[in-house]
Amino acid sequence: LRAEEPVHRTFLGTWVLTSYDDIKFLLRDPRFCSDNLPERLNNKTSYLENRHQNLNALVGASSKWLTFLEPPDHTRIRSLIGGVFHPEMVERLRPEIQEIMDKLIENVQRKDSIDIISEIAYPLPMYIISKILGVPKEFQNQMHDWADDISGIFCQFNSLSDLARMNETVLKFTESFREVIVQREKEPQQDLISFLITARNEGDKLTNDEILSICILLFITGEETTVNLIGNGMLTLLHHPDQREKLKRQPTMIYNAIEELLRYDSPVQAISRIAIKDVEIRGKEIKAGDRITMYLGAANRDPKQFSEPDCLDLTRADNRHLAFAGGIHYCLGAVLARVQGQVAINTLIQRLPNLQLATNTLEWRNHSFLRGLKALPVN
Ligand code: HEM
Repeated sequence: LRAEEPVHRTFLGTWVLTSYDDIKFLLRDPRFCSDNLPERLNNKTSYLENRHQNLNALVGASSKWLTFLEPPDHTRIRSLIGGVFHPEMVERLRPEIQEIMDKLIENVQRKDSIDIISEIAYPLPMYIISKILGVPKEFQNQMHDWADDISGIFCQFNSLSDLARMNETVLKFTESFREVIVQREKEPQQDLISFLITARNEGDKLTNDEILSICILLFITGEETTVNLIGNGMLTLLHHPDQREKLKRQPTMIYNAIEELLRYDSPVQAISRIAIKDVEIRGKEIKAGDRITMYLGAANRDPKQFSEPDCLDLTRADNRHLAFAGGIHYCLGAVLARVQGQVAINTLIQRLPNLQLATNTLEWRNHSFLRGLKALPVN
């Protein structure tokens, strides 16, 4: 498709973009805005109301999510929380990320076989995002399950029963975060929730609903994608023993290696936008209101941008992949994801150097936009 029809209209009327240049350009083009999920959900609500169900909690929370906001609200909220994800702040977390990773490795070191997804890739980002937000231990596992449940919301094709279930999950999420907020109001700590409460009280810059939805969004976006980076990255290295050996001998290569792993098997394969004006791309007329799906995974393998794109090269130079998208919605947690990926993959390669894939039948999670394994058994 990328070679023959890089701007393609599906029978459902959605545009599919697959070339690196088109996607990079469109991400920064103000004639396109983020996917309006809350409006889409609202359109489905009347049907559900006939069955005495609604999507009010989901619509309410997602209407404040950065991913679906545009300036000026997007700029206001992003600049408020952006500092926490600044490279300097994230670099300060590196020793703690390493400490958690060392503990996770100690737990599995003496086992004959392990599952990298459930025993390493899931717990690491869950602890870290909980630490950043200030989620107490007793809430973490439950919130992890809820985040897992809602992560499918970013796909286009959710069934009504999935949406109704996600709405219930958002309600539970909201109640738990409300409890944490009450705790932090009484006893502020050095965490993002306490910081957001101060911002709300001092400058009237945030509402309580916005705090709640920021917390839910960060828990969802911060977990699943990082799990996929660690899982897909390790699978790729298991399939390329020569490259794995290079990394084992030269651990400082990890910075470059993570960029190549993000490019080679991108954790987020696709994202959506809506045209707000009529736009012509490569002779195709995209009309205002049309939906566009951009395949980041296809762009990251575009031979016009990357030489030998299907070849894994951990030393690849000038690797301007689009795994974190671009423009105003460029991933807020990109630096945090990179550091977690670097620490997790390097530690696994150095401390468990002889890992072998323990199955020939890998199962992928059922997501159209995210790419990640259900399990990665090794011995
Ligand atoms: C946005 C990828 C990890 C928070 C995005 C987008 C992509 C992405 C492609 C753009 C979505 C769009 O434009 O529609 C990834 C990948 C990750 C990762 C591949 C891991 C390897 C994280 C982490 C966090 C995070 C760890 C936070 C803890 C966010 C947020 C946005 C976002 C808040 C919305 C930004 C905005 O709209 O301004 N991410 N992400 N992500 N990501 Fe990530």
